[in-house]
Amino acid sequence: MTLVSKDTLKAAEILNKKELVAIPTETVYGLAGNIYSETAIKKIFEMKSRPFFNPLIVHIHSMEQVQDLAVDFPEKAKQLAKVFWPGSLTLILPKKESVPDLITAGKDTVGIRMPNHPLTLELLKNLPFPLAAPSANPFTHISPTKAQHVKNYFDGKLEMVLDGGNCANGIESTIVGFENGEPVVYRLGSISTEEIEKVIGKVSVRNNKEQAPNAPGMLEKHYSPRTKTYLVQDITAFIAQYPEKKIGLLLHSTDHESFNVASINYISKTGNLKEAATNLYNAMHQMDRYDLDMIVAQRLPDQDLGKSINDRLERATK
Ligand code: TXA
Ligand code: MG
Repeated sequence: MTLVSKDTLKAAEILNKKELVAIPTETVYGLAGNIYSETAIKKIFEMKSRPFFNPLIVHIHSMEQVQDLAVDFPEKAKQLAKVFWPGSLTLILPKKESVPDLITAGKDTVGIRMPNHPLTLELLKNLPFPLAAPSANPFTHISPTKAQHVKNYFDGKLEMVLDGGNCANGIESTIVGFENGEPVVYRLGSISTEEIEKVIGKVSVRNNKEQAPNAPGMLEKHYSPRTKTYLVQDITAFIAQYPEKKIGLLLHSTDHESFNVASINYISKTGNLKEAATNLYNAMHQMDRYDLDMIVAQRLPDQDLGKSINDRLERATK
């Protein structure tokens, strides 16, 4: 049985033994281990069935820790960190030699983030090492936004889930790196590109959909329910093709005609993009248990967080 508790001292004790703890963040739950323990890091990859070519994000609690991990902290990166940390931004910086290659998949850069969750910040302050933490889901599955989602995936295999309630933002951090000094967004996420550009000006977006990324890992199939999923613009026309099927709809507003389907899940009732992001994964977890023939999601407007949500839904259809 996996312990689900708010006890940060217990979590620290387990992490100090080179075991893993799932930790809450404001984006999604992470599967955490000591970045300097090869034993712990190998357990992360093994528990997730994650390929070793996909690097892990290092979680810190103070700006000073960047110096222990990166050889350079460019001005634009600093500006972003000042505005968004603690928060849903991961910075890709040139790594120090002391950061194990297992964390970075042999790359010369390391992903760093200061998460914005009181329990996890308290935990990090009580540990003598930062935590590597990928999302706490098996490889390519839906990311967890509640302690119970993590328990459903790893019950009995994982010692503890630190229970920090529901994740406030609900989708992963936005990843920003630098190429020849120019900022590049590698993963759309909880902070919109528009918000990033308000701080450092124009950025390019390289939200890869590669099969085996050797540059920033963004796999094409990801965040996937077991139920076949579609992302469509015109729900009415799409579902008219499948009158015999048991369909679940994922909608972001109530201003449309009523649909005759098995179930409807609103991630927002008013088209609020922030609310839609917060509720997205929980809705996908729920619908995946309804024994549907298909999940049909309505494409969101292609702006702000709508872009990040469409990106997740597109990968869920693969
Ligand atoms: O919100 C988040 O970022 C969550 C929470 C737990 O912090 N973590 C998360 O981790 O989403 P994960 O492992 O599911 O996704 C990390 C992404 C991967 O696409 C990985 O390839 C990329 O970050 N990444 C990590 N280090 C990198 C590096 N040095 N260069 C490029 N991409 C990197
Ligand atoms: Mg993930």
